[in-house]
Amino acid sequence: MNIIGIIASQREEGNTTFIVNKILEGAKKQGAETSTFSFSNLNIKPCRGCWACHKGDQGCVIKDDMQKIYDALEHADAIVLGLPIYMGQMSAQGKIFTDRLFARFSPRFSPFFKENAVKQKLILSFNQGNPDADLFKSYIDYTKHMFEVLEFDVKEVPVVTGLRNGPACEREDLHTGLKDFGSALVLEGCQK
Ligand SMILES: Cc1cc2nc3c(=O)[nH]c(=O)nc-3n(C[C@H](O)[C@H](O)[C@H](O)COP(=O)(O)O)c2cc1C
Repeated sequence: MNIIGIIASQREEGNTTFIVNKILEGAKKQGAETSTFSFSNLNIKPCRGCWACHKGDQGCVIKDDMQKIYDALEHADAIVLGLPIYMGQMSAQGKIFTDRLFARFSPRFSPFFKENAVKQKLILSFNQGNPDADLFKSYIDYTKHMFEVLEFDVKEVPVVTGLRNGPACEREDLHTGLKDFGSALVLEGCQK
């Protein structure tokens, strides 16, 4: 199984990085091949809304680091998308990534969708400073629905809370649970 992690945070050693890497660690232990893409070291511009991706088969005309993610997406069975909550919503980096997925529904990618009836699995991993797990529930539920509309098979939506009290890496309680999400993603795939 090929799994890619997307870290939609600018913080190279921040909470989202830790969380995505822990989930991938669990998946690797079950034999998955993994790779990560982090906004901390990628140059990915916002969608220009030019619609060029839908007019021909050249894909997205913005030749930045998102091209590496498009290539990786073509071979990925699953995605772990790490989204920090900024001002009650996914980070701007998360939204840029999501908007750039528009090019996936273009002529370049349509053969990929036809040949692969199996949807890509997605772990939609949120994290936030506030300790109340229900605080952004309606937004998180909406976002899950939105990714399902975008043809992803959303497997889990873990929400790590309370990070205003200290970094995720110091939270021993998180380690096993996060790895289990990654592990389950692979084991479920093997049963099919
Ligand atoms: C600009 C900004 C806005 C934030 N807004 C919220 C918020 O609305 N609610 C919340 O619970 N935490 C909020 N936080 C805290 C982050 O969600 C939390 O620290 C997260 O773990 C950051 O992940 P990172 O280290 O990968 O950037 C905010 C942090 C920043 C920098």
